[in-house]
Amino acid sequence: MYLLIPAAGSGRRMGSDRNKLLLPLLEKPLLAWTLSAAKAARSLRWIGLIGQPEDFQDFKEIVVSLSMTKMVHFIQGGATRQESVFRGLQALPAVAQRVLIHDGARCLVTPELFDRCAGELLHCPGLVAAIPVKDTIKMVEPSSYQVRGTPDRRQLWAAQTPQGFEVERLTRCHQEGLRQGWEVTDDATLFEQCGLPVKIVEGEETNLKVTTPVDLAIAEFILRQRGEGG
Ligand code: C5P
Repeated sequence: MYLLIPAAGSGRRMGSDRNKLLLPLLEKPLLAWTLSAAKAARSLRWIGLIGQPEDFQDFKEIVVSLSMTKMVHFIQGGATRQESVFRGLQALPAVAQRVLIHDGARCLVTPELFDRCAGELLHCPGLVAAIPVKDTIKMVEPSSYQVRGTPDRRQLWAAQTPQGFEVERLTRCHQEGLRQGWEVTDDATLFEQCGLPVKIVEGEETNLKVTTPVDLAIAEFILRQRGEGG
């Protein structure tokens, strides 16, 4: 299975002036944890790491420090996650039929989740790791802050990554998104908007996306619970 890791963002919401994936988490850069899980996942053979050129030297040092046993290719990212993934898709070898996409910022992903998604992807055109929502979610009018409605929680799942797709179909969805000017925060949305089916694969509650400083503290706690960090 092919894996693309979007890692070309910044550290703005983290209050950092550098890519948050290079911030230390238990003495290792955050991205090293994501790559370690990808290294340990048996189903993955090829990894495309999507980054900004100014980070490539640091990325290379991380890859070397992990003695990665599978090929890691460096791909130049874009201004948005959507653009970064589209570039990643274009950099896949022509023989790639299916691809998993996993945000570098979800550094607590387990190898088992990668393998579960890779296995499922052999039987469906698109999938997303997700977990049932615990909170009651309100739909809110952005300008007035008035609540417009409360969707039935039993139908709500919080989308994570990995997400997986047939490469050709996802590429066409990205092209359609560009034509139509769709701005999305994950790839499954493009698939859905093109009328293609997306299946849920049970994700992991600990598979959080490190976005703000509090996430970093929670991630550290979870890693220590797993016996990492001495
Ligand atoms: O900012 P956020 O955490 O939502 O980004 C999700 C993932 O997309 C991160 O791993 C980030 O590095 C990546 N990204 C990217 N290219 C961008 C912006 C974000 O690859 N231009």
